[in-house]
Amino acid sequence: MAGKRTFTMIKPDAVKANNIGSVLAMMTEGGFRVVAMKYTKLSAEKAGKFYEVHKERPFYGELVEFMSSGPIVAAILEKDNAVEDFRKLIGATNPAEAAEGTIRKRFAKSIGENAVHGSDSDENAQIEGDFFFSGLEKF
Ligand code: CMP
Repeated sequence: MAGKRTFTMIKPDAVKANNIGSVLAMMTEGGFRVVAMKYTKLSAEKAGKFYEVHKERPFYGELVEFMSSGPIVAAILEKDNAVEDFRKLIGATNPAEAAEGTIRKRFAKSIGENAVHGSDSDENAQIEGDFFFSGLEKF
């Protein structure tokens, strides 16, 4: 059964471009409710840990450097079929391939600086949410 929660980050490029409000509006207008949220900055060590599954990929170093380059907004979002519906809302990883009306089509600059993260499975949504939030921070 599909889960009700997913995890997202508004990445440093979108924060720097002052798009936090517009990105959040697309998420809430897309039917997602905020369960937890924080404005924070990842150290290179924390970013490396978060993206550990990509450790062997050629873009890992670049990804860690970018994700620790400035503040991000981390959030847990809730909706029926959350993971799949959220990935539809954000669009393809590469903004050149993202559909019209998606968050990445509107705000992402490149495959590396792609405005937002969205969990790719219910299991990862749980792991990623737990990386940032304690039980006391989820409502
Ligand atoms: P995200 O959904 O946060 O998960 C992994 C990230 O790696 C992805 O978004 C991209 O930002 C990044 N990524 C994936 N492929 C590439 C690539 N070819 N070059 C640079 N970054 C990439």
